[in-house]
Amino acid sequence: MAYEMILTETQGAVAVIRLNRPQALNALCDQLMGELGEALRGFDADPAIAAIILTGSEKAFAAGADIKEMKDRTWPGVYFEDFITARWEAVTTIKKPVIAAVAGFALGGGCELAMMCDMIIAADNAKFGQPEINLGIIPGAGGTQRLTRAVGKAKAMDLVLTARMMDATEAERSGLVARVVPLDQLMAEAMKVGEKIASLSGPAVAIAKEAVNRAFETTLAEGVRFERKIFYSLFATEDQKEGMSAFAEKRKPAFRNR
Ligand code: CAA
Repeated sequence: MAYEMILTETQGAVAVIRLNRPQALNALCDQLMGELGEALRGFDADPAIAAIILTGSEKAFAAGADIKEMKDRTWPGVYFEDFITARWEAVTTIKKPVIAAVAGFALGGGCELAMMCDMIIAADNAKFGQPEINLGIIPGAGGTQRLTRAVGKAKAMDLVLTARMMDATEAERSGLVARVVPLDQLMAEAMKVGEKIASLSGPAVAIAKEAVNRAFETTLAEGVRFERKIFYSLFATEDQKEGMSAFAEKRKPAFRNR
């Protein structure tokens, strides 16, 4: 399918989706989010792909939902159209790891989109924020929930109530970001993570992602029970036999995703 607002490419088993609406700092309009959902679902279904990198430009990962598109929307409109839910939730249904490689602004829906991914790698020029309060609204794509779980109440309140931005160093210190690298190394670092994931057992990777994400949605006791069951299930895979045999035989495992 031909996209207008994103660019896609693959490097080996790693897919890269680049938000590409530079004139609007990658503001996340309906069309862009539709294309993003389509591309993510396509790569998720492609057995040749093991991990997906989502990135933007050097200036902006994404400066939020498209304010100009939103400004005339009405209450019954957003409610009955399932605005946000219909398009954005697609990102959270992907089984393969999605790595956000963030440079520049990740604001509002841009920060929320990054937080829907499984891991954020930030360039040293990245800026994160939930400035919706400046517009007379609040974050609407999970910002008040995912940011609070990632950085705790103190920082989340600070960002959501004052619209202050957090730089990459503060974001890493606060637990929002996994790694910070110089801007010119952002894609190489994200690719390194993608390639490492691609060398592993696909079922183990998908199940590991599911188990970690479960921690955000359940109690500790339920989460541990869930982990135990899903851990047991991996003993039904050939990859578990291969991984453990390879260790015992002091050789590299050759996983076959089954
Ligand atoms: N929506 C629509 N257009 C946007 C946009 C957005 N979120 N962010 C930037 N743009 C557009 C600007 O309107 C401008 O377009 P024109 O040249 O046609 O005027 C272009 O992108 C460049 O932006 P600036 O000239 O403002 O660039 P800057 O470098 O001076 O400032 C910025 C950068 C601080 C990110 C500033 O653009 C800004 O504050 N953007 C809005 C950030 C924001 O409020 N995001 C939250 C949106 S609401 C939301 O996301 C709801 C939700 O939770 C789902």
